[in-house]
Amino acid sequence: MSNTISRQKFLQYTAAAGAAALLSSLESLAFETPQKKLRVALIGCGSVSNRYIPHLQSSSLIELVSLCDIKHDRAVNQNKQYNVNAKTYPNIDAMLAGVPFDMMVTTTDMQVHGALNKKALLAGKHVWSEKPMANTYAEGKALYDLAKSKKLRIWGAPAVVNSPQFEYMSKAIQEGKLGKLASAHGQYGHTGPTWSAFFYEKLGGSMPDLGVYNMATLTGLLGPAKSVMAMLSIVKPERTVDDKGKIKVEAEDNAHILMEHPNNVLSHVMCGFNFFDPHGHEAGNQTLHSIQIYGDAGNMRLIGYDWETNGVIMDTSWDKPPQLVATDKGTYVWQEGATVVGEAMMKGIEPRINAEHALHVLEVIEAARKSQETGSRIKLKSKFPWPIVK
Ligand SMILES: NC(=O)c1ccc[n+]([C@@H]2O[C@H](COP(=O)([O-])OP(=O)(O)OC[C@H]3O[C@@H](n4cnc5c(N)ncnc54)[C@H](O)[C@@H]3O)[C@@H](O)[C@H]2O)c1
Repeated sequence: MSNTISRQKFLQYTAAAGAAALLSSLESLAFETPQKKLRVALIGCGSVSNRYIPHLQSSSLIELVSLCDIKHDRAVNQNKQYNVNAKTYPNIDAMLAGVPFDMMVTTTDMQVHGALNKKALLAGKHVWSEKPMANTYAEGKALYDLAKSKKLRIWGAPAVVNSPQFEYMSKAIQEGKLGKLASAHGQYGHTGPTWSAFFYEKLGGSMPDLGVYNMATLTGLLGPAKSVMAMLSIVKPERTVDDKGKIKVEAEDNAHILMEHPNNVLSHVMCGFNFFDPHGHEAGNQTLHSIQIYGDAGNMRLIGYDWETNGVIMDTSWDKPPQLVATDKGTYVWQEGATVVGEAMMKGIEPRINAEHALHVLEVIEAARKSQETGSRIKLKSKFPWPIVK
């Protein structure tokens, strides 16, 4: 932890941009937590917590001290099922008033992320949030500024930039292996979650749940979007879900988003909750590609989903067949984000995942909604440090 690392040594570690902010944040963390592990509280003990809890538990630098869910029995059950030995709480206020912790991990319904993340920051906690960090770019930016003003950190899913395949593709682009870049495409869909209504309610939809991965990958590879145009629709106006029975679908379940990147590069994301795909949430055996990048000297296709990839097909020769490369997954798994940023804080290093990138993707989603409403092209203002990997 930072209390075991000298200021001078830390500065050597973090010559990169943002080091000063991280240092002051780590100093405040060190002051509050003279222990060897980062104390983490997870809020939202539903489906995704089954992936987050074991991953957080696998870290020797993290201790899961609190679990919270407004359906309190879910927190109690997860505590038991994974032998967490945490305190459990029925709401965030009780959790913030309970056992001390350093970072909150938010895995609740999407619509309440912003409000919960704000409460945690105001209470002096670092935050890792499932996507989206907030409901609007303005709300997200206010959280980011609040975190900065309090010398805290906030980060948002997804963690796709951590995969070895993202790294390979980013380096290949930066090294010019594809020649002059022109166009890219990403797609991700399945037949939609069956367990919770929030995915289909206002401010839900396939963009913040699914398209967000492709948007993070494509902006991460090609650079921040300068403008966005989109068409969104609702294909299935009614659904039946476990928690609320028959519901009216209020958010898009079918989306096409065009992005304009630096150097006149264009990309397209297609996502939705009506895509037949026998692999669904299981990506391990997926052989189709979900991301394609084209330049005038080569193209790359990412096999599987960008959140769980099985390699990259690289095609740069007129006479030789395409090559399957970057098949090693390393330790990367999509649910690693909270663990990775928690460990980075403990080690005093800056993680690759960047909050401004998550904020930018949030602005893309909001712009796509605005473009659908107005029928026009929407200019974006946010940027993030890019290239992410050179
Ligand atoms: N399920 C997945 O495979 C998956 C994968 C990646 C990301 N995600 C993201 O994770 C988040 C949660 O998705 P999920 O599938 O686990 O949903 P879920 O409905 O299974 O779980 C959400 C939980 O949050 C709780 N909750 C809601 N409001 C709360 C509040 N104010 N305070 C405390 N608890 C509250 C609910 O009671 C529920 O138990 C979403 O942002 C989703 O996009 C899910």
